[in-house]
Amino acid sequence: MSTGKQAAGEAAAELVESGMRLGLGTGSTVAFFLDALAARRLDVAGVPTSEATAARCRELGIRLLDIDETTELDLAVDGADELDQRLQLIKGGGGALLREKVVASLAVRFVVIATVDKLVDRLGASFPLPVEVVPFARRPVHHRLQQRGFEVVERHGDAGPYRTDNGNAILDARFPGGVQDPTVLDIELARMPGVADHGLFVDLATDALLGDDRGGVQQLTNESTIDLST
Ligand code: A5P
Repeated sequence: MSTGKQAAGEAAAELVESGMRLGLGTGSTVAFFLDALAARRLDVAGVPTSEATAARCRELGIRLLDIDETTELDLAVDGADELDQRLQLIKGGGGALLREKVVASLAVRFVVIATVDKLVDRLGASFPLPVEVVPFARRPVHHRLQQRGFEVVERHGDAGPYRTDNGNAILDARFPGGVQDPTVLDIELARMPGVADHGLFVDLATDALLGDDRGGVQQLTNESTIDLST
């Protein structure tokens, strides 16, 4: 599986040009992107989407950009837990969804890097949707999601309840059969008091680079699929 992640990460690093302002995602696929980016030694700077990514960039010598210093990014690159043909995503398996969405929203181009098996017909049929909640509203939101038909599990870490880089809790919410209409659910969740953000990324990604276990990469856009390995 790491072959596909590496192939996607390396293909994304090829999209970067000197002078670009980047959004730097989080996760194991992004780790390959960061390695490949650092190896190119370009003059770039990026806004990290997590403390983990910031730490890795410091190790690799990738210049960090404060989000307060920019209103627009040339290119954001990030992983996903699931994506569909319309480039709608579920993210947040690693808990960084809020900062990831903010950073993606600043980017002119947002490229998703993932393995081909993450492409699904319907989002959420197998991967639960992460919902980031301020700690005070944990129980009320849990209850509301259950009333709405979700099976909800609060995420835990090794040392107790999981906390995001923003100090919030994560509720992993599974809807039997998956998400019927991502756009409707996006709005519904955003209106729920106490929800800081959620892992549905609607109309944000511009294209996706999907790696397979032979090292091939397909580029998926809203209009087409291109096999980059031929
Ligand atoms: C982090 O919160 C997530 O959104 C990741 O981007 C997602 O979980 C993909 O991670 P991997 O690249 O490790 O599969």
